[in-house]
Amino acid sequence: MLQGDRLQLRPLARGDLERLDLINREPAVARWWRPGEFERWPLDDDEEGFAIVVDGEVAGLIQCEEETEPDFRHAGIDLFLTSRLHGRGLGAEAITVLARHLINDRGHHRLVIDPAAANATAIRSYERVGFRPVGVMRRYQIDPASGDWGDNLLMDLLAEELEGG
Ligand SMILES: CC(C)(COP(=O)(O)OP(=O)(O)OC[C@H]1O[C@@H](n2cnc3c(N)ncnc32)[C@H](O)[C@@H]1OP(=O)(O)O)[C@@H](O)C(=O)NCCC(=O)NCCS
Repeated sequence: MLQGDRLQLRPLARGDLERLDLINREPAVARWWRPGEFERWPLDDDEEGFAIVVDGEVAGLIQCEEETEPDFRHAGIDLFLTSRLHGRGLGAEAITVLARHLINDRGHHRLVIDPAAANATAIRSYERVGFRPVGVMRRYQIDPASGDWGDNLLMDLLAEELEGG
């Protein structure tokens, strides 16, 4: 269990799938995160998932993927939070808690995140944690809303740049 001021991150369990699928299908979440990946267990094993727990309730998902090749070692993060909890700084807090763990406990020196370039709320949230835009990856991800290829913004954070690390 990774502890934050207002939330905890705990390893995902099979019992979380139904709740995560419901959150994923909320319009403000489905807009940026295509629903449908919480239908089978175990999940895609490249990513390591954590349930975001707020007041004892599963409120979202945060996941990380580690590149272990020594010359390119880094970790990537992604997340979603139930819409009713947006706008309270909880997304930024969840990222900070996981980033702290990846840096302090797993020894990473660099973290990345790659929101859709049009996802202004997420980009603002990641900048609040200390992530900086690196560049636009053109036609990188199918936009769940339009079905067309969309651009994503690659952002990174170095260990010493973590706000409140
Ligand atoms: C990405 C996501 C998790 C970010 O969470 P969020 O709650 O929107 O953003 P934050 O946690 O940074 O909170 C920021 C907002 O809370 C407000 N806020 C309120 N209380 C706050 C507090 N105690 N501390 C910090 N911010 C606070 C800030 O003013 C800010 O609002 P603004 O940026 O709209 O001005 C969330 O928007 C989400 O789940 N989106 C849908 C899925 C998605 O896009 N996932 C990312 C794919 S890359």
